[in-house]
Amino acid sequence: MEILPANILDLNSLRHVENACFPKDAWPLLDLIAVLTFPGVVRLKVVENGQMIGFVAGDPRPGEGFSWIATICILPEHRGKGYGRALLEACEERLPTTRVRLSVRSRNDEAIRMYEKAGYKAFDRWGHYYNDGEDALVMEKNR
Ligand SMILES: CC(C)(COP(=O)(O)OP(=O)(O)OC[C@H]1O[C@@H](n2cnc3c(N)ncnc32)[C@H](O)[C@@H]1OP(=O)(O)O)[C@@H](O)C(=O)NCCC(=O)NCCS
Repeated sequence: MEILPANILDLNSLRHVENACFPKDAWPLLDLIAVLTFPGVVRLKVVENGQMIGFVAGDPRPGEGFSWIATICILPEHRGKGYGRALLEACEERLPTTRVRLSVRSRNDEAIRMYEKAGYKAFDRWGHYYNDGEDALVMEKNR
């Protein structure tokens, strides 16, 4: 397993990973292009046997005093092996702020466990944030 920078050449692989990981919230193509090209965004992929099996994007917002984890995902068949946690840590290391925030579906227990183990704490809840009405938990870590 390797963690490597991602770029626009990864667009098709990222589409595949996003669709497999986010059946309800996969990003539209334009958002995927944006996350792979916007200046300053930290974008990393997990590669195994030459294939992308996971992705993370971190959005630095130093003016606001924190960065935002925009997305993180590992293909279902590769979960539970520590790759998600390793990817999250690699992204955090490259972000310029000590505070990092993210939002997560309030019933996404696997992701919430991963974030809690990595030191994130929920500090807010956005009611009916997702398109199917599920709440978002907003979490923060101060490194
Ligand atoms: C969340 C996600 C990235 C975790 O990836 P992963 O590679 O399976 O995670 P890891 O193996 O690094 O596990 C990290 C921690 O998460 C928790 N975790 C992971 N899978 C779990 C499961 N099935 N049940 C309970 N806890 C789980 C554990 O606490 C684990 O730590 P531990 O192994 O020390 O107990 C992955 O489940 C995923 O892609 N989910 C779909 C996309 C998503 O929901 N992303 C988050 C959006 S905010």
